[in-house]
Amino acid sequence: VQDPRIAKIASSIRVIPDFPKPGIMFQDITTLLLDTEAFKDTIALFVDRYKDKGISVVAGVEARGFIFGPPIALAIGAKFVPMRKPKKLPGKVISEEYSLEYGTDTIEMHVGAVEPGERAIIIDDLIATGGTLAAAIRLLERVGVKIVECACVIELPELKGKEKLGETSLFVLVKSA
Ligand code: PRP
Repeated sequence: VQDPRIAKIASSIRVIPDFPKPGIMFQDITTLLLDTEAFKDTIALFVDRYKDKGISVVAGVEARGFIFGPPIALAIGAKFVPMRKPKKLPGKVISEEYSLEYGTDTIEMHVGAVEPGERAIIIDDLIATGGTLAAAIRLLERVGVKIVECACVIELPELKGKEKLGETSLFVLVKSA
């Protein structure tokens, strides 16, 4: 049986057709953030799953991983590490490129933000093709971090993003068409 909180979280997410491009059904989590109960429950479900697992790093993917990651990090006593778009971080960075439908994109993290042997979860609002999370996994593994799991509020299973994550497991609250 599904946790009753999940249905309320799912219904708090607004779907906007044809944004930002024709054919895309945009999953808008800003309406989840307006629903104080849905937002609280979203964080609580992740915190329950990851507390007491020896996790010292919550890595959040820009931009919406920066919304969900910090409250989870605070609650489980982990540090929050932002994984940013290129040229945003001021210090020395380590970068990982990934391919898009047309071209490539890059995510970056500060050198020294994490230590080899630390245990991390990676948080984002949504997994679509999985390219972003796969790059985040590669980036953290290059510096010797153990990825316990990737966690997202929403998965679009038709895009098979989970297959790009290799051995790393994925936990999602809501699956959407
Ligand atoms: C969205 C989403 C994920 C990524 C998932 O971010 O928030 O980060 O796409 O897509 P993928 O699984 O196909 O890689 P977006 O590119 O819209 O960037 P933004 O959060 O900075 O707006």
